[in-house]
Amino acid sequence: MTDIPATHLRLLTTASEDRITLTLASEPVPQPGEGEVLVRMEAAPINPSDLGLLLGPADPATLRREGEATVADIPPQLSRAVGARLGQALPAGNEGAGTVVAAGAGAEALVGRTVAIAGGQMYAQYRVAKARECLPLPEGTPAEAGASSFVNPMTALAMLGTMRREEYEALVHTAAASNLGQMLVKLCAAEGVPLVNIVRSAEQAALLRGIGATHVVNSGDPDFRKQLTAAITETGAFLAFDAIGGGKLANQILQAMEAAAQARSPGFSVYGSTQMKQVYLYGALDTSPTEITRGAGMAWGVGGWLLTPYLQRAGAEEVGRMRTKVAENLTTIFASHYTSRITLAEALEPETVRAYARRATREKYLLLPNG
Ligand SMILES: NC(=O)c1ccc[n+]([C@@H]2O[C@H](COP(=O)([O-])OP(=O)(O)OC[C@H]3O[C@@H](n4cnc5c(N)ncnc54)[C@H](OP(=O)(O)O)[C@@H]3O)[C@@H](O)[C@H]2O)c1
Repeated sequence: MTDIPATHLRLLTTASEDRITLTLASEPVPQPGEGEVLVRMEAAPINPSDLGLLLGPADPATLRREGEATVADIPPQLSRAVGARLGQALPAGNEGAGTVVAAGAGAEALVGRTVAIAGGQMYAQYRVAKARECLPLPEGTPAEAGASSFVNPMTALAMLGTMRREEYEALVHTAAASNLGQMLVKLCAAEGVPLVNIVRSAEQAALLRGIGATHVVNSGDPDFRKQLTAAITETGAFLAFDAIGGGKLANQILQAMEAAAQARSPGFSVYGSTQMKQVYLYGALDTSPTEITRGAGMAWGVGGWLLTPYLQRAGAEEVGRMRTKVAENLTTIFASHYTSRITLAEALEPETVRAYARRATREKYLLLPNG
């Protein structure tokens, strides 16, 4: 069994009104209590949702070293976005995986197992977790393969769960070449759910077709709206999950859905079609305002969507089934790809922060807290 050191490193992010400061703090290794385990963290992805906490509204162009810390300026007009976290040194990292190196009473069976965990504070060398919240990886699965087994896989499954609960039959997805988007393509193919993928380049379209996507539309094409309407007409995808959030895309989707609804069920009404059309904004890749011009009749909705409330509503049984499905398909449907692996110290280098803050296709960073 690995020797457990007295102290370990943890990445912290602190906001003041005009800057975000990233530091590595040396802290005592926490002790597991009853029903808890101590996990030596071996791999944790840097997802867009982690960047929301790590950098907040700070401008990556201003990243620089100041002594041991890395700082970035917050534009004055965005300083109210950090009002609730001012002065607090917050640990980051939503999910990760590692080896259980110690356990409190009742959790001994997990010692030596590689487990995936979620719930924050993963950018650290050690993390205490409740044993019942650990996802033991199949024997022989490396921590890296399980590092992203919560946020994106559970979101993809919850999107399908939302679709079924709200009685839709097909989906539209944006920024669809994302890590999550690629999982959704494979999941929908496996479950026979029609999926309309919206990307913004020909390379992204080719990537998705390469993994089996059948409906891919490029928002950069001159006839994008026409292609989108045709794909929605064919699939009946009147529910969209939009990771971009800002700008005109949500509106374009609603309008294409309305045109598709009218094509599928012709007949004039001054109120537009009776087909309900729903766009959920579940990401904020574009932080500009969402522009809605109301050209989609009267039966439409735009709302926010987050995984956590979905899981709370779904209840333990459905969440258990979702977790089992993730574990069974970790290296296929829910496999993640990383282009760079970095240590905790490297995660603070301004050039590296700027690179992972780009949130670019196929450029996901994996943090290896223990090197
Ligand atoms: N609400 C929730 O509960 C929840 C849960 C999980 C994930 N999410 C969201 O899911 C999204 C995908 O996460 P991920 O980890 O899969 O991301 P990722 O692998 O880092 O990929 C991000 C993708 O977004 C594209 N992109 C970035 N900025 C864009 C913009 N302004 N307009 C259009 N496309 C843009 C990138 O394309 P380029 O290469 O062209 O830049 C890339 O394909 C994120 O927005 C994340 O916050 C939300």
